[in-house]
Amino acid sequence: MAALLFFFLLAVSAVSAEEDAVIGVNLGTDVSDMPSPTQVMALLKAQNIRHIRLYDADRAMLLALANTGIQVTISVPNEQLLGIGQSNATAANWVARNVIAHVPATNITAIAVGSEVLSALPNAAPVLVSALKFIHSALVASNLDRQIKVSTPHSSSIILDSFPPSQAFFNRSWDPVMVPLLKFLQSTDSYLMLNIYPYFDYMRSNGVIPLDYALFRPLPPNKEAVDANTLLHYTNVFDAIVDAAYFAMSYLNITNIPIVVTESGWPSKGDSSEPDATLDNANTYNSNLIRHVLNNTGTPKHPGIAVSTYIYELYNEDLRPGSVSEKNWGLFNADGVPVYTLHLTGAGTVLANDTTNQTFCVAKEGSDKKMLQAGLDWACGPGKVDCSPLLQGQPCYEPDNVLTHATYAFNAYFQRMAKAPGTCDFKGVATVTTTDPSHGSCIFPGSGRRNSSSTNGTSLAPSSNSTTSGCLSQFFYSGGSFTSSVIIGFLVLSAVLL
Ligand SMILES: *[C@@H]1O[C@H](CO)[C@@H](O)[C@H](O)[C@H]1NC(C)=O
Ligand SMILES: *[C@@H]1O[C@H](CO)[C@@H](O)[C@H](O)[C@H]1NC(C)=O
Ligand SMILES: *[C@@H]1O[C@H](CO)[C@@H](O)[C@H](O)[C@H]1NC(C)=O
Ligand SMILES: *[C@@H]1O[C@H](CO)[C@@H](O)[C@H](O)[C@H]1NC(C)=O
Ligand SMILES: *[C@@H]1O[C@H](CO)[C@@H](O)[C@H](O)[C@H]1NC(C)=O
Ligand SMILES: *[C@@H]1O[C@H](CO)[C@@H](O)[C@H](O)[C@H]1NC(C)=O
Ligand SMILES: *[C@@H]1O[C@H](CO)[C@@H](O)[C@H](O)[C@H]1NC(C)=O
Ligand SMILES: *[C@@H]1O[C@H](CO)[C@@H](O)[C@H](O)[C@H]1NC(C)=O
Ligand SMILES: *[C@@H]1O[C@H](CO)[C@@H](O)[C@H](O)[C@H]1NC(C)=O
Ligand SMILES: *[C@@H]1O[C@H](CO)[C@@H](O)[C@H](O)[C@H]1NC(C)=O
Repeated sequence: MAALLFFFLLAVSAVSAEEDAVIGVNLGTDVSDMPSPTQVMALLKAQNIRHIRLYDADRAMLLALANTGIQVTISVPNEQLLGIGQSNATAANWVARNVIAHVPATNITAIAVGSEVLSALPNAAPVLVSALKFIHSALVASNLDRQIKVSTPHSSSIILDSFPPSQAFFNRSWDPVMVPLLKFLQSTDSYLMLNIYPYFDYMRSNGVIPLDYALFRPLPPNKEAVDANTLLHYTNVFDAIVDAAYFAMSYLNITNIPIVVTESGWPSKGDSSEPDATLDNANTYNSNLIRHVLNNTGTPKHPGIAVSTYIYELYNEDLRPGSVSEKNWGLFNADGVPVYTLHLTGAGTVLANDTTNQTFCVAKEGSDKKMLQAGLDWACGPGKVDCSPLLQGQPCYEPDNVLTHATYAFNAYFQRMAKAPGTCDFKGVATVTTTDPSHGSCIFPGSGRRNSSSTNGTSLAPSSNSTTSGCLSQFFYSGGSFTSSVIIGFLVLSAVLL
């Protein structure tokens, strides 16, 4: 018992250690029906999100964040940067209005001065370091400089030749800014803020970067990227860019500044020119990123060194200009419904409501219609799936096509078979996904979603002895050969595992 208690205390102190990496979320507000600060707060609380970055210092938001314990990074918007960088009085005013008025009730822990200034607003670059210094002096004057860090988020595009990481350097045109900036960060115990978007690196690479490498998916060892100078192995783009930043700093003789990733994410939807902006990819990227960060894995260059990361972003921002993907980086819709269910089992409590490792079985897009129909008939017949929700007038009837009906039936079968290996195959026209295919009032078996108008309506839990309704013949498939394919699939898999 004592040993157990000791272990428990150890575990607790390790988790609360200062060096542990944290996951935060960015709060963009270009949303047509932007939730009120109270609603935002409710979502943060329900999802156990303890770190948030605002793109401004919105008063109502900061008031709502008071006494919540949530740690807040506020921002000086780029529009205000020139004024603040040119006048310490303006900077002091900004701090009085947006910081001193709110602490300590609101736990402001960092100020992001500008956003990607070198790449987005180069004409303000000459005053960037002054702006940081003026803001910092104002904090010193109020004795807040130790609890509130001052930095400025950079686009990773200022790092050139980022692979191999050991040869990376900051674009030298910016040395006159980067050198004093890094000295400032060093002398104030602050950190380098970096925005990392493997999605864009992948898109720009024209196939050179494998999708799996961008998404943190396991790679065969011969596909891992090796830095020939350091012999370090890279299994994902994210780590390679963080290490490139470490090397770029050490190139300027600075080796002790930690990195905080102020933005990273993946869009869940895109237009026809953005085929990899999908629910599945966004889910995979963000789930893997969150697990990677919370595991304190660090990077190949600095294993175990925390790289705290803010996910871009909390809400889909439908009002953002640009392509479809620009509007679809969010984890949640404005109504607080998750865009997809992250799979975070074992990763801790952040975004805890999404922690079930749900998997679903879906019909493959573009499959042969006859094969789909045959699989559908088999599932609803010999497969003993309750297909009554697919009948006309029932919640899963629309859209009435063989692909979505087959998806429903395949998944119901897969869930009923407890997701056993080989039960999501259907002669190759089915595949496993982590994205919940439920839509509208059609809630799929295995979904954590509840029917919001929750009645006892159609039972979706397929009962093993179900003979479904009178329309059985509509689904019935006389072949029955799927059983054997399922069994063969299972045998093959077992053989592989043996
Ligand atoms: C604010 O956050 C810091 C961590 O940076 C923590 O140590 C402190 O206790 C927090 N303060 C409040 C009032 O929650
Ligand atoms: C602003 O700068 C002037 C001169 O550089 C200095 O005298 C003054 O104390 C500074 N004010 C603040 C608030 O730092
Ligand atoms: C380096 O920065 C300068 C100034 O912004 C820019 O003109 C140049 O294109 C950058 N170089 C590269 C290789 O991106
Ligand atoms: C870094 O240190 C080396 C060796 O001390 C020196 O030659 C070089 O000029 C320094 N570079 C910078 C940017 O300070
Ligand atoms: C977690 O970290 C350990 C080393 O600390 C590493 O061996 C393991 O692969 C990491 N797991 C994940 C999911 O990153
Ligand atoms: C999240 O989980 C908590 C407790 O497990 C629950 O009270 C809350 O309603 C959930 N929120 C959502 C949005 O599902
Ligand atoms: C998550 O998935 C694993 C492997 O499929 C399974 O063993 C485990 O029970 C699942 N956990 C939950 C909570 O469903
Ligand atoms: C969900 O609720 C709606 C409205 O009450 C109902 O028509 C529908 O059948 C329900 N769906 C399921 C799957 O229970
Ligand atoms: C749903 O069914 C359960 C058990 O059959 C019953 O106790 C409950 O009252 C029903 N709920 C509704 C809303 O009909
Ligand atoms: C079906 O299962 C239920 C219990 O789950 C049982 O009461 C019923 O007798 C079974 N019907 C047949 C036809 O096996």
